Amino acid sequence: MALPALQSFEKKIERQLRFFELRKHIIERKIERHIRLFEQRRDVIGKKIERQIKQFELKKGIRLDDEVRFIRSWIEKPLTTGAVTPSGRALARTMASYIDPRRPGPVIELGPGTGPVTEALLAQGIDPSRLVLVEFDPIFCRLLRARYPAATVVQGDAYGLKRLLIGVLRQPAAGVVSGLPLFTKPLHMRLRLLFEAFALMSPGAPFVQFTYNAVAPIPKRLDRVSAQASERVWMNIPPARVWVYRRD
Ligand SMILES: C[S@@+](CC[C@H](N)C(=O)[O-])C[C@H]1O[C@@H](n2cnc3c(N)ncnc32)[C@H](O)[C@@H]1O
Repeated sequence: MALPALQSFEKKIERQLRFFELRKHIIERKIERHIRLFEQRRDVIGKKIERQIKQFELKKGIRLDDEVRFIRSWIEKPLTTGAVTPSGRALARTMASYIDPRRPGPVIELGPGTGPVTEALLAQGIDPSRLVLVEFDPIFCRLLRARYPAATVVQGDAYGLKRLLIGVLRQPAAGVVSGLPLFTKPLHMRLRLLFEAFALMSPGAPFVQFTYNAVAPIPKRLDRVSAQASERVWMNIPPARVWVYRRD
């Protein structure tokens, strides 16, 4: 670019910068005015939004606060949370259906999150005092303690299950229900988890795991272990399948 053209270009930019500087104060003042207005009306607006959310929840049968918590957790730790939304009722019900309330002992839930499967376990007839909820996320733990005060909530890493539950279980468990995103872990860790769970359960008790994947989350051909899959649960986002493992 020739020198005069460059000088004229510089002047043009300077002019635009000056203009922007002048406008900046006006725009800032406008934004401040809007913020002040919003602050004054925040309570009224907040209550209105809350009312609308409650009406929506009642109509659709879901808890949006849980959805929001879940999405936030997924944004922060996508591999740990493993899903963008909590399990739907149909999937939770399918998982809980494999737990026989007549089999004695505690029921261990791994990765309960906001508790949709916990809720289904209660509906299945499991007394809340029998529940041992193992959750990694401290915010979910707080929520679970408030929501299920009779249950035992253990904050920690489910992949170290045996060590984590030392002194917690007083008798063999009646089942383990897992919502962990197993595929984010290597196979040897998934297998170790399964066998640690078997060691904590009474003979023949189920290890229940859901997956969105087409293949089994833990290989189905294992020595002295039977594996059984449910039909795909289409009424879930995304559709999922439940796998049940038992030691023969
Ligand atoms: C896919 S979400 C399932 C949540 C809930 N069970 C449901 O069905 O909506 C996985 C949950 O497992 C928890 N989680 C992931 N890794 C974990 C670990 N190593 N130990 C304990 N909890 C874990 C996450 O914090 C999250 O709550």
